[in-house]
Amino acid sequence: MRKITDDVIYIGLDDFDIDLFESQYKVPQGVSYNSYLILDEKIAIMDTADARKGEEWEANLKKALGERKPDYLVVHHLEPDHSSMIAEVLETYPDIQVVTGVRSVKMLQQFFDTPDIAGRCITMKEGDVLDLGKHKLHFYAAPMVHWPEVMVSFDEYEGALYSADGFGKFGALSECGFYSSEDPDWSEEARRYYINIVGKYGGPVQNLLKKATTLPIKSIRPLHGPIINEDLGKYIKLYDIWSSYVPESKGIMIAVASIYGGTMRAAEKLKEILESKGAENVFIRDLCRTEISRNVSDAFRYEKLVLAASSYDNGVFTPMHNFLHLLQIKCYTGRTVGIIENGSWAPSAARVMNEILCQMSNLTIVEPVVTIRSRMKSTDYPALEQLADALL
Ligand code: FEO
Repeated sequence: MRKITDDVIYIGLDDFDIDLFESQYKVPQGVSYNSYLILDEKIAIMDTADARKGEEWEANLKKALGERKPDYLVVHHLEPDHSSMIAEVLETYPDIQVVTGVRSVKMLQQFFDTPDIAGRCITMKEGDVLDLGKHKLHFYAAPMVHWPEVMVSFDEYEGALYSADGFGKFGALSECGFYSSEDPDWSEEARRYYINIVGKYGGPVQNLLKKATTLPIKSIRPLHGPIINEDLGKYIKLYDIWSSYVPESKGIMIAVASIYGGTMRAAEKLKEILESKGAENVFIRDLCRTEISRNVSDAFRYEKLVLAASSYDNGVFTPMHNFLHLLQIKCYTGRTVGIIENGSWAPSAARVMNEILCQMSNLTIVEPVVTIRSRMKSTDYPALEQLADALL
């Protein structure tokens, strides 16, 4: 719990115990479930928390409230990492009303069997205002950032945007900083969070950014990660890049799925050739031994990608297949891609990688596709040289 301004208290918390966020993402620095309390003539709770930390969240809420009772529970997003305590709040405070988007009401009834939960909702449409006294919350729809019912709200008194998942990041606040100015590596885990969780919905994020540019924002208060009070343009620019699907950095990522090391040797040789020809920021990523969500976010980060994989069961080696599947569903686009395959009797990796790439849009697949037979030999060098030239 922490006071943010005279009227706003942070009542969220850190989760270091979670093994996998959304049951799939490793979060070595934990994650925060952000929640805020606005104390004005009327009192609004701004979202709740994951049930994993429900008791701690309720304790924070009660301590911040003191003797007062909340009037509203504002629900910006119904994903359970933020909404799990709604039923408890409604039970504890029988007069409280849920303030949320029109599209949330049906979903609220799916998640909770609290009697007459729909009757306790005040629904907000685009531009509607919740008047707390000094603080007036203006609501804006943000569908598919990251679920369809998402709304954000802007408190005109403090210039604060409550941005739901937008501008969120992995990492507990006690680990990475309560304010983004204390977090020099903000973009690393924010990028991994954005690309993997919200990345499919670049268009809706662009729509939200357009709305945001019309508001005098001084503070961004997301549902995960640090509060952003300084240098807002830097963070908004990164979100603009990520949601536009354009590369953020120059460089070539060589993604390798190698079973016994033969394919890896070819990847290392390609890196050597590329660097000898002046390419900068060339790096190898072993898909078999690194966190797939980081590999996906780095594929989006850089402008060029080389896929190097063994053949496997008349297809492509599983780590590469999984990687490409994620690139496809996250709408990977507008990049230059090279291919190296390995096969000892019937090479199939390049065919399958190419088939998956063809389901994505606006990729430039450079020639030649290099085929290694079991182990790279000096006779393979010319093809690797040609591939390097095509990538430069
Ligand atoms: Fe952090 Fe989409 O919930």
